[in-house]
Amino acid sequence: MPHLEVRDVVARYGSHEVLSGVSLDVDRGEVVALVGPSGSGKSTVLRVLVGLLQPVSGSVRVGGQAVDYRSAGQVRAIRNRMAIVFQQYNLFQNMDVMRNVTLAPIRIKRRDRREVETLAVALLERVGLGQKLHAFPDELSGGQQQRVAIARALALRPEILLLDEVTSALDPELVNEVLDVIRDLAREGMTMILVSHEMAFVREVADRVVMMDKGQVIESGPPAEILDAPRTERAREFFGKILRH
Ligand SMILES: Nc1ncnc2c1ncn2[C@@H]1O[C@H](COP(=O)(O)OP(=O)(O)OP(=O)(O)O)[C@@H](O)[C@H]1O
Ligand SMILES: [Mg+2]
Repeated sequence: MPHLEVRDVVARYGSHEVLSGVSLDVDRGEVVALVGPSGSGKSTVLRVLVGLLQPVSGSVRVGGQAVDYRSAGQVRAIRNRMAIVFQQYNLFQNMDVMRNVTLAPIRIKRRDRREVETLAVALLERVGLGQKLHAFPDELSGGQQQRVAIARALALRPEILLLDEVTSALDPELVNEVLDVIRDLAREGMTMILVSHEMAFVREVADRVVMMDKGQVIESGPPAEILDAPRTERAREFFGKILRH
């Protein structure tokens, strides 16, 4: 049984259908890369998973249990199990790094402050920011801020980490330091859904690639298969365009 099972999910913004029956599976410890053209619905899939957009139909199961997104309690519960990191890292500008990472676990999750702070220091060391515990966001580079955002998500101890183009707002020379962190997490067995346009990285780190187009999954399989020998014309065209860059 996959750890996360998404079946035939339909979602709309108003009358505009943006997901038209999306299905995908993620096993424990697996890294699934979600790729596809702009507007194909990648971010929307992640938003649905964490309950930011209620699906119209279809089902999501985590650990075999169906999630009812109409229930506020179940949405809260699901946000205990999945954490999302966005392209724009959205750190609290008026709080130092430690407080950014510890705030939600202490205030919202009501976990023990000492335990959370110990975990936060360990996580910040792990993302290479052990020296920056008391820096404020505006004293950090974009890459450092994004690594704080990843540490903040990890402090929630998620079962599944959702990463939405976490390197695309960064200057090119800062991309690698963030990819290094993701690479380490993958090696340690973190379950992840990774939306990314960095195809070389996707090839290296993903166990499976899921390609979306127009609100649907059009191909999925191992990176070598999807990136090198796509079956659909649409995927060939897409990879032809981006792999040339
Ligand atoms: N808040 C919103 N309100 C209305 N429509 C939206 C909203 N967010 C996204 N959409 C629409 O939903 C569709 C899917 O958007 P989504 O952000 O999921 O695409 P994406 O694959 O993540 O694209 P990108 O690669 O550009 O990030 C698009 O047509 C978009 O215009
Ligand atoms: Mg997006």
